Amino acid sequence: MSQATPTSETLVQRATELREQLNYHLHRYHVLDAPELADAEYDALFDELVALEREHPNLQSASSPTQRVGAPALSQFDKVTHARPMLSLDKATTAEELEQWLQRCRNRLGEGGFTLTCEPKIDGVAVALIYEQGELTLAATRGDGNAGENILANVRTISSIPLSLTGDDLPAKIEVRGEIYIPLERFEAFNAQAIANGEKPMVNPRNGAAGSLRQLDSKITASRPLTMFCYSLGGSEGAWQPKTQDEVLNQFASWGLRTNPALEVVEDLPQCLDYIERLEQRRDGLGYEIDGVVIKVNDLAQQQSLGAVTRKPRWAIAYKFAAQEATSVIEDVDFQVGRTGAITPVARLQPTFVGGVTVTNATLHNMDEIARLDLHIGDRVMIRRAGDVIPQVAAVITSQRPSNAQAVVVPAVCPSCGSATQRIDDEVVIRCSAPRDICPAQRKEGLKHFVSRLALDVDGLGDKLIDQLVDQGLVSNAADLFLLQSEQLIELERMGSKSADNLLAALQAAKQTTLPRFIYALGIREVGEATAASLAQHFGDIERLLNAPAESLEQVPDVGPIVAASIHHFFAQTQQRELVTALQQAGVRWPDVPVVEPDSLPLTGQTWVLTGTLEALPRSEAKRQLVELGAKVSGSVSAKTTVVVAGPGAGSKLEKAQTLGIDVQSEEDLLDLLGRYTSGE
Ligand code: IVH
Repeated sequence: MSQATPTSETLVQRATELREQLNYHLHRYHVLDAPELADAEYDALFDELVALEREHPNLQSASSPTQRVGAPALSQFDKVTHARPMLSLDKATTAEELEQWLQRCRNRLGEGGFTLTCEPKIDGVAVALIYEQGELTLAATRGDGNAGENILANVRTISSIPLSLTGDDLPAKIEVRGEIYIPLERFEAFNAQAIANGEKPMVNPRNGAAGSLRQLDSKITASRPLTMFCYSLGGSEGAWQPKTQDEVLNQFASWGLRTNPALEVVEDLPQCLDYIERLEQRRDGLGYEIDGVVIKVNDLAQQQSLGAVTRKPRWAIAYKFAAQEATSVIEDVDFQVGRTGAITPVARLQPTFVGGVTVTNATLHNMDEIARLDLHIGDRVMIRRAGDVIPQVAAVITSQRPSNAQAVVVPAVCPSCGSATQRIDDEVVIRCSAPRDICPAQRKEGLKHFVSRLALDVDGLGDKLIDQLVDQGLVSNAADLFLLQSEQLIELERMGSKSADNLLAALQAAKQTTLPRFIYALGIREVGEATAASLAQHFGDIERLLNAPAESLEQVPDVGPIVAASIHHFFAQTQQRELVTALQQAGVRWPDVPVVEPDSLPLTGQTWVLTGTLEALPRSEAKRQLVELGAKVSGSVSAKTTVVVAGPGAGSKLEKAQTLGIDVQSEEDLLDLLGRYTSGE
């Protein structure tokens, strides 16, 4: 097989070159936020490497960008003892406390003075990464500070964390510490999708990050929108001897690690306070949750001489912002209809000033959440806000419940279109039973999703405007957006001819998109960003996706029967197919997505059927492996079937195979075959 062919030097070179290019572009995209390639161009390079590594298993390497996902699920995490404990921080909440801390540093350090660094205190999960000879070899949680858990398989799925550091003079071994978190925009998109799918949303970005890192199956982690800021050196072996915290972070960045650009070196208390004030003003626009500023003595030798007491360093302090929490009263609970018809309860609050803004609404997610909180109308509640995310109800103060408090009643009809509501099986949501074109709320929400940042990203088309466009009958589906005329727009509220022109220009610009964005924008239930990307990669064009039978949808990585059924159902509707055509006719387009040539796989073109009991291998696993080798796995035998694998207890399918003269094999034969390919013989 492939290993018999010696791998030529040019192939080795090409693989190395591809890895370098891919790593370079991953870094531009995820760390620097400055991509140089279109998604499709990146995918083409990636696919070339996948194909190369598949054909020449001896070209494979653990640090290849192709190896980020796909580690087998763990049964538990291994314990990791930290070489140096991961400390926590002392807190200050006033200028006086900060001044006292500075004074203590001065007293201990004596003459000569010192500088400080100020950086955002990220509200995420602390982790330690070990790189040996530049390769990521371990990732650990903080745990109790002395020992945590090895979460390497999960961390490897996070695109902004390099598997190998770049540059010369890499230290023999280095421990990088930092915070893994979920950016707010991605958090909201993830939750919107979870709610649309009838699944449980994440409680807040920090819990979401922690939960995602605790998954034993790294494929789940891979589907979560995690990223990381690296903020300190846990230890290093080798020639590199940095002198200051800002030097450490600059060096990190030059090795490809993601660091926070908001770091500043300051000299005294007034400058510290100025930084704190400026950061607090920017807080809502940062795009991630912070709960304060970490101030560190910049000089590492001075840090060393200051040392630590009771697990807290003397050389650093956290200045905590006032909590973004306050109490309010639930005046009512309204029900909002989402783009998939999911109906979510929203608390109407007595207006309350929290973290610099007046809050009047809080999300309640679903009826289960209301039950969990034991929330009644009239209750006093604790609300919490993060960035510009919709505030959450953190807790109900039941001790203050008024006697006339009322339970929340599930609506029997959709508040938008009046159709009956329904709750399907084990879903946590209730839904409007009407299709999207009948229910105005679903239509509006579908359009809002279509133009949102991660979808077609139409600038300046806000929620209010969409409401108006639908209410006035100017737009009923996404394709109508592209037919809008300037004369129609200027009739709308708060719309001058300049803003009408801007909007038309933004719509024009949004027509040039990518296939993953387009698929995501359609708003198919169960199809979030990650699934949309897999579908684009697998099918390569929209026509093939549109016509894919549920069975072939299931061949897409990470698409199970439920997701496949939802996609299939979506494209089975004439109006959705017409919408896709109308959008293309309106000029929406994307660069071609190269697919891995199907005939490069050993079982391409073959259809397999598994029947009877498989003893050594769960059926789902056998199926997964066959699909990976290019086969289709079908549930029924026909003249097109290539092989039927029959285990004990096989019945009618086996009979049919025999009648049709189809190749029948045993489980042993199957294991043989799989073994041959997977061991790379
Ligand atoms: S320095 C001993 N820098 O805050 C030094 N920590 O309460 C501690 N954190 O567990 C780490 N942002 O998870 C540092 N820019 C930052 C940070 C930061 C968030 C977290 C970290 C740590 C906790 C300490």
